Amino acid sequence: MCGIFAYIGEGRDATKAVFNGLKRLDYRGYDSWGISIVEKGEIKTQKYIGEINRKLLTLGRSRSAIGHTRWATNGTVTQINAHPHTSSDKSYVLAHNGIVENFTKLKSFLSKKGYKFISDTDTEVILRLIEYEYRNEKDFIISVQNAFNKLDGRNTIIILKKEGEVIAVRNGSPLVVGISEKNNDVYFSSDTLSFSQYVDKTITLENGQMAICNDKLTIINTKDNNEVTVNYDVNTIKGQEYSKDGFRHFMIKEIHEEPQIIEKVMLQSKKNILKLANKIKNSTTVYCIGSGTAGAAAFQSAYYLRTFGGINAIALIGAEAKDYFHLFKKSDLIIALSQSGETADTLEVIEFAKKVGVCIASYVNMPGSLMTKISDYKFMANAGPEICVMSTKVFVSQIVWGYLLSKVVQGKFYDGLSNLRKTKTAVSKLLKDKILDKKLDKIATKLSYEKDLFLLAKGQNLQIIREGMIKLVEGGYIHAHAIPAGDLKHYAITLMEPGKYLISVISDDENKTDTMNAINEVKARGASVIGISVFPDKIYDEYIQVANLGETSAILNIIPLQLLAYKIAVLKGNNVDKPRNIAKSVTVK
Ligand code: F6R
Repeated sequence: MCGIFAYIGEGRDATKAVFNGLKRLDYRGYDSWGISIVEKGEIKTQKYIGEINRKLLTLGRSRSAIGHTRWATNGTVTQINAHPHTSSDKSYVLAHNGIVENFTKLKSFLSKKGYKFISDTDTEVILRLIEYEYRNEKDFIISVQNAFNKLDGRNTIIILKKEGEVIAVRNGSPLVVGISEKNNDVYFSSDTLSFSQYVDKTITLENGQMAICNDKLTIINTKDNNEVTVNYDVNTIKGQEYSKDGFRHFMIKEIHEEPQIIEKVMLQSKKNILKLANKIKNSTTVYCIGSGTAGAAAFQSAYYLRTFGGINAIALIGAEAKDYFHLFKKSDLIIALSQSGETADTLEVIEFAKKVGVCIASYVNMPGSLMTKISDYKFMANAGPEICVMSTKVFVSQIVWGYLLSKVVQGKFYDGLSNLRKTKTAVSKLLKDKILDKKLDKIATKLSYEKDLFLLAKGQNLQIIREGMIKLVEGGYIHAHAIPAGDLKHYAITLMEPGKYLISVISDDENKTDTMNAINEVKARGASVIGISVFPDKIYDEYIQVANLGETSAILNIIPLQLLAYKIAVLKGNNVDKPRNIAKSVTVK
């Protein structure tokens, strides 16, 4: 949520470097954007509402610059509320990612001291607080530290001074530093990918660390002002590019990458998975956690661990895990699933659990994340950049990994691999199936007129319809409702009537009869049923055939739902890769 970017160096024009960096961060928020540069000892700023647009940028060349792309939290989408915000004496500007949770209290304190506010943002409170601290302290760095340490919540800020110096402080919201040794250039950003092609080394700042950069880069602790010995990471993703490869949208490109994604999980080191499997077997409770789509993947992974591993695995949604906090024990294990590795709701659970001695494992896609850093068992999805705000290929990667892990726990790693090989082939085939594609077009056209859609499944397919629901809501802006097949008769049956559509996912397994019974009940009330199944049945008004993959069927079954959501989003003219109001990396609570 919100992207921040800064550049200082000799190799490139800072204005262009920051502009290009922001373009790569716009998945984090696309309400407004702004850039500040230093020109002849003065700060110049441009801020705009809407998408980042090169034509609007008329700032000249600079050696250092900062920029911001906003997902509005406090304060509506206006040019005044856009970042960077300028200090009263115009000697520095500040951009921010996070939410100052005590901002009302701080604002009222500062207002009483005579400070005036021109925007509605919590960010401006940070700026005025620095000014207030500076009045007594007279040392800018100490003033920033003092102000920063008074903020509650997860906040990361970046400051540009008129002398050209860049200062960044992290607490919670992400911040990575990239260094190009050849050009003596330093980058600061919310993610590594946004500057990956230019840098050799990266540093993931830890919470409470401050980076100061002009001619040289120094990192200090905000608590004691002591310099930190920096641990550099080699940039391993230098070659990764952002291209649609001829596809119309990133979403459909990323769905078509799914066979390779399955292959990548199969290539994960068996030794590392085995280590985690042993830990799982020796843990009292295994909590799988994630948020949104990663939450659905966490539930699916817990299902696999219970079903194949016989493990006491419980799934939790990041933001709703607090009522389990008092149950966390040293003998427990948390497995966190996250594309970004920076989701605040998930991170907060891990940070709490770590303090009480719970062991942490994570499966993350984005390199250099805090989640990976604080995990005892670190796994990378290596799925490549997922640019579409809606997660598709990383969801597949997460559930495939969860499945493989459960098979290792079960002592059947090679069976797992062999099942995944068949799954990969079936996914490839489904994605190339032209007849199916036409059928999905026809169904998508029908469904795109609907206000409400229902999905129904049981067992291995339950989380698949939950994830299908998420995609239909996000991409299609359609109200969708995922119903556990057995629960239909307890409540949702009241909504079944002629003219309503229900999508059901049925596998040839022990839940087939129960699911078909529920479908019969739906049909008896006159609703239409779209069946995604291995076997045709006259009960279906529309039938989408999928291969019978036994225990990995669910992995294949998500693909038609992802394709349907994509097609509906396109038909409705929605912004497919950047659905309204949401952002990819949700770094606020
Ligand atoms: C939905 C989607 C979100 C994310 C969620 C967690 O398509 O992408 O629901 O899954 O915000 O994000 P990560 O995986 O980065 O923790």
